[in-house]
Amino acid sequence: MNLTEHLENIDWSFPNLSNSGIHSLHWYPATYIAAIPGTLIPAFTKKGDIVLDPFNGSGTTGVEAVRLGRNFIGMDTNPIALLMSEAKLYFPDPKSLRKQIDITINESENLFGTKLAEPHPHEEELRAWYHPDTLFILNRLLSSILETKSLQLKKCLLAIFSGILKNTSSQGRHWGWVCDNVKPKPSEIVPKDALLTFRNATNEYLKLTQLSHKAVQVHVDKETRTQTRSRYKLLAGDCVANMESIPNDHIDFIMTSPPYYGVADYVKSQRLSYLWFDKDELAAERLGFRDFEKLRSAESGARSNRSRKNSHELYMSFMASFFKQSFRILKNGSSMALVVGESQARASTTDELIFSAINQGFTLALRKERNIKISRRRLMAKVKCEDILIFIKN
Ligand SMILES: C[S@@+](CC[C@H](N)C(=O)[O-])C[C@H]1O[C@@H](n2cnc3c(N)ncnc32)[C@H](O)[C@@H]1O
Repeated sequence: MNLTEHLENIDWSFPNLSNSGIHSLHWYPATYIAAIPGTLIPAFTKKGDIVLDPFNGSGTTGVEAVRLGRNFIGMDTNPIALLMSEAKLYFPDPKSLRKQIDITINESENLFGTKLAEPHPHEEELRAWYHPDTLFILNRLLSSILETKSLQLKKCLLAIFSGILKNTSSQGRHWGWVCDNVKPKPSEIVPKDALLTFRNATNEYLKLTQLSHKAVQVHVDKETRTQTRSRYKLLAGDCVANMESIPNDHIDFIMTSPPYYGVADYVKSQRLSYLWFDKDELAAERLGFRDFEKLRSAESGARSNRSRKNSHELYMSFMASFFKQSFRILKNGSSMALVVGESQARASTTDELIFSAINQGFTLALRKERNIKISRRRLMAKVKCEDILIFIKN
């Protein structure tokens, strides 16, 4: 059986699988199932090859590429996406992490009796989402995390903190409500045990990051954490601009899922993290969390921009530039796999994307439909199914 026949025979819906392990560190909209990159990366690359995900999102491709012994480059405009990806790929030393977690939790508790915590600069707005007791504890925890000396450990703790912000808020409905800024009604504001939630999340992360590194060592015998860390790079900003600095014929495989036109708002979905992280101390780290409005409006294909004049044309023109860069940086004979979906309101988008990629020189090698689980469909507006597209540069 040749590769195309093999790929044709796979049920890309993976109906019995869901993302688990380190993939579940932090929720994020429209992530794809790890089995997709987990199947395609070994089919199209060998160990040591470079896999690129220009629309990195929560880092699903990166986790799989690094686990399988490939080098990885991820790009995204959303700094919260990069924060969670880095926490998944950093593999901190467990002893140092344990120590830092204990310091963070102890300090946040000690602060109770001693000095009053500075109120958060967005205290008033946060009060619309959180019970005052929960808000108080989260604010202490964040102040304590910000004291972390190692920037890398600080980022891991910030990612964990960011990951509990939705569940500790009083908005009990799914992320779409947070995304659309629908605050809980005053009668729905209830206290949540933020300290216990954070403690559990840190313990879970500590366990999962070690398991995740063991999974790397199954493929790359005895590789140290430092060696593993040297195999990935995460770049902030627009992917087309970032790809311009990659030489011609350099990348072995592109595995990605671009934003589906008019379907999701990635920056807005993380609005609670942006609100919490809008603090002077974090601005000084230059992590980009302060630019909510700028990042939101720069997001390609964003749902909230869909009623803007020419928004579909702008999206298609952006995707044409993306295909042009992808074609240039891929090695000859190499492939690009895309997972794409379309909203019912724009039912021809996938065909238009295929046409655009072919226009830039690609050959379409495979198009396979996959069903989206009902639970996920509920969160993704009117997208019913997605396509796996495989293009070749030849
Ligand atoms: C469909 S999601 C990717 C999800 C990812 N496959 C995962 O499993 O988590 C698309 C991503 O593209 C990012 N994005 C939007 N416009 C971008 C741009 N111009 N350059 C780079 N990333 C962009 C969004 O922030 C979002 O994280």
